[in-house]
Amino acid sequence: QLQTKHSHRRQKVLVVANRLPTKPKRDADGNWTFERCSGGLVSCLAGIRAKFDMVWLGWPGADFNDVEKDIVANEAMKQGCYPVFLRQNLIDEYYNGFANNVLWPLFHYIMPPFDKGVNECSTGQWEAYRKANEIFTEAILSVYEDDDYVWIHDYHLMLVPKFLREAKPDCNIGWFLHTPFPSAEIYRTLPWRQEIIESLLHANLLGFHVYDYLRHFLSSCVQLTSLEISAHSVDATSIGGCIVTCATVPIGISPDEFLTGLQKPEVKQQIEQLHEQYAGRKVILGIDRLDYMKGIPHKLMSFGRFLENHPDWADKCVLVQLAVPSRRDVPEYQRLQRQVHELVGQISGKHSSIATGVPVIYMDSSMSPDDLSALYNVADVALITSLRDGMNLVSYEYIACQHGKTVPGVLILSEFAGAAQSLGAGSIRVNPWHLQDTAHAIYEALMMGSEEREALHDYAFKYVSEHTAQKWAETFLQCLQEACSDLMEVTSQ
Ligand code: F6P
Repeated sequence: QLQTKHSHRRQKVLVVANRLPTKPKRDADGNWTFERCSGGLVSCLAGIRAKFDMVWLGWPGADFNDVEKDIVANEAMKQGCYPVFLRQNLIDEYYNGFANNVLWPLFHYIMPPFDKGVNECSTGQWEAYRKANEIFTEAILSVYEDDDYVWIHDYHLMLVPKFLREAKPDCNIGWFLHTPFPSAEIYRTLPWRQEIIESLLHANLLGFHVYDYLRHFLSSCVQLTSLEISAHSVDATSIGGCIVTCATVPIGISPDEFLTGLQKPEVKQQIEQLHEQYAGRKVILGIDRLDYMKGIPHKLMSFGRFLENHPDWADKCVLVQLAVPSRRDVPEYQRLQRQVHELVGQISGKHSSIATGVPVIYMDSSMSPDDLSALYNVADVALITSLRDGMNLVSYEYIACQHGKTVPGVLILSEFAGAAQSLGAGSIRVNPWHLQDTAHAIYEALMMGSEEREALHDYAFKYVSEHTAQKWAETFLQCLQEACSDLMEVTSQ
């Protein structure tokens, strides 16, 4: 167990993410529920508790009045969480506005409309972003003790490293980006590029999913600063930062959670039911958050193309598409939902018949982990057409849930997802913008022989089971400890 140099207490890791892993809700009768979120970061970080005490700081997902805040804070603390409360106007401007309407599109290579400057509409949102980052920093300072490690997550909180370093010069700070970092040519269109990049350079360690994102970040540093930059570090001491280490630490999943889930009698029963329901049809599965960068319209259009190219498949396959609602207050997401509904309607109108039924089963909803595992298991093909994606763990989950099948399913994976760099050789890689290419990949996947399927699956499963979520978190923290101790050595010389 790791202890601090100042006392015998265990060192803490303060995990700072925009969202808490618990969702407080009050029903019409005034009863509270605190649903614990599963998957994602939550399971990634479970292993850390063995070594460190951990406190998770984040926004509890809604605006609460003072009485409600006490209830939420008490319950959150029982779960090792520290809520960071934000008022509705700040949520609108910081979360819906700057984070999800300025940074999110830009980091996924979507530029503002060609006849508009981003700063005209977003200056207030930038101020709100700064304010929210200050509020998060204050929250960190209220639980921080000397020698703790502060692990900041994602594009929502890029100003925290500088605020924190100014308040606690010796603080151990790590930041991990869950999205792509765009090419410097895209990044430097951002009016606030300088403040953001300089703030990040106040951390000890910056982590990225894949080497390309790290490379783009370093190119931005070259173009926007006059600091000394090497292949994996930036000397930011002259701007009050430190010698910042940059590392590639790809995230993973906990495959055991899925493999154990698949053994549950209720999941086995669900699998049987799904097999009966889709008997005689191949299931092509799409699971995405309803986000424009997931390329759901491209997927639907490619599937439509496939049916046009191969009308004989109309009664032999079905596309099951789950679109989990996300960021519903952002207008772009509302527009996307309408567009997707229209496309589903068009494909169904064109390819449905009384004899064959509908070719697309589309759901605007989420699913329980057990139902999801069953669906992953029965799917013959998983189709991932992200236009840009930090990693894409759906591809990993599909591979995990295919394990143990006599004839495993085939993963079709966009080359624009970070996962293409790890699972590329275990999948059919596609350019989702090339509808004909994706349509052909669907055909290829459906027709693939068992030997080739097994070879692809074995490759992908080996990767998924070796590069787990727990390993990701441990590796990041180990790199952070090394980055911080290297720094101590340099300063004490
Ligand atoms: O980095 C992408 C991410 O922020 C994930 O951490 C998160 O699961 C997803 O996008 C959805 O985020 P939210 O619903 O909090 O906006």
